[in-house]
Amino acid sequence: MDDVIETGRCNVPALGFGTWQLEGDEAYDAVRAALEVGYRHIDTAQAYGNEEEVGRALADSGVDRDEVFVTTKIWKDNAAPRDVAASTTESLRRLGMDRVDLLLLHWPADDPPLEETLAAMTELLDQGQTRFIGVSNFPSQALDRAAHLAPIVTDQVEHHPYLAVDEIKSVAAEHDLFVTAYSPLARGRVLDDEVLGGIAEAHGKTPPQIVLAWLLQAGVSAIPRSRSPERIAQNFDIFDIDLSDDEIARIDGLDRGRRLIDPPFAPAWD
Ligand SMILES: NC(=O)c1ccc[n+]([C@@H]2O[C@H](COP(=O)([O-])OP(=O)(O)OC[C@H]3O[C@@H](n4cnc5c(N)ncnc54)[C@H](OP(=O)(O)O)[C@@H]3O)[C@@H](O)[C@H]2O)c1
Repeated sequence: MDDVIETGRCNVPALGFGTWQLEGDEAYDAVRAALEVGYRHIDTAQAYGNEEEVGRALADSGVDRDEVFVTTKIWKDNAAPRDVAASTTESLRRLGMDRVDLLLLHWPADDPPLEETLAAMTELLDQGQTRFIGVSNFPSQALDRAAHLAPIVTDQVEHHPYLAVDEIKSVAAEHDLFVTAYSPLARGRVLDDEVLGGIAEAHGKTPPQIVLAWLLQAGVSAIPRSRSPERIAQNFDIFDIDLSDDEIARIDGLDRGRRLIDPPFAPAWD
C-alpha cells in the first residue's frame, strides 16, 4: 500500500492523526507522540479548541514544519467571506504558522451560498495562507458542485467498514480528488468485530490496524485518533499489511450504512 496519496494537484501522507476531543495537555502530548512515531499529517479544526496545542507540539517536536501536512477546518458559522478570512487568520495565529497545508469547510453552511465561501477560501489559497482547500461532510451532489466551483482536493467524510461512501468516492475520482475517512475506526466499534478479528489474527495485527490498511489499500486517507501513546504507535504500524482481494471483499461486506456523526445541522446524506 502507498503511504502517500498522489492526485494531480496534491500529495498527502495517507495516514494522518485526528485530534477531535483532545484538549490541553492531552492534545499536546498526543500530537508529540504521533510525530515521534512517524505521523506526518495532523488533523485539527477551529471547533476542536486545540489548534494552539497542535501548533506548539509541532514546534517543540524537532520535526521540520515543511515535513508535516497540517489540516484545519473553518467552522460553518464562519462561512461568510469576511469570517472565512478572519477566522483563518485566527487559526494561523493559534497554530503559530504562516500557512496550513489544507483548509477545509467543516460542514456545508446554509448561508451564504457555497460559491461565496469557496471564493473566499480560494483567495486564501492564492494568498498562500493554505496550500490546498477542501470540504468536509459534503454528500456526493454537493461535492460535485463544490468541485466545479473551486480547486478543492478532498472531501473529509465519515467512512469505516460499517459506512461505505461509494457515491462520494466516484464523484471524487471524476474530479481527481482524494477522500479522507474520519472516524475510520467507527469510534472504537471495530474492536469487537468477528470478521475483522479473524483477519487481524491471520495477519498478527489488531482490528484497528486491519481497518486502516483496508482504507489505505483503497486509496483513501485515514485520520484515526487515540489518546494513548501505545495505540497511536499501533495505528501507525500498518504499512507491512497486504490484504488479499478476499479479505477486502469480506470487509467491504460489513457495510450497513451506519452513520455515527449526524448532528441536527447535517445535510441530507446520499
Ligand atoms: N470532519 C468532521 O466533521 C470530523 C468528524 C469526526 C472526526 N473527525 C476527525 O477524524 C478523527 C478520528 O475520528 P474519531 O476521533 O471520531 O474516531 P476514530 O478515530 O474512529 O476512533 C477513536 C476511538 O477509537 C479508540 N482507538 C483508537 N485506536 C485504537 C486502537 N488501536 N485500539 C483500540 N482503540 C482505539 C480511541 O480510544 P483511545 O483514545 O482511548 O485510544 C477512541 O475512542 C477525529 O479525531 C477528527 O480529527 C472529523
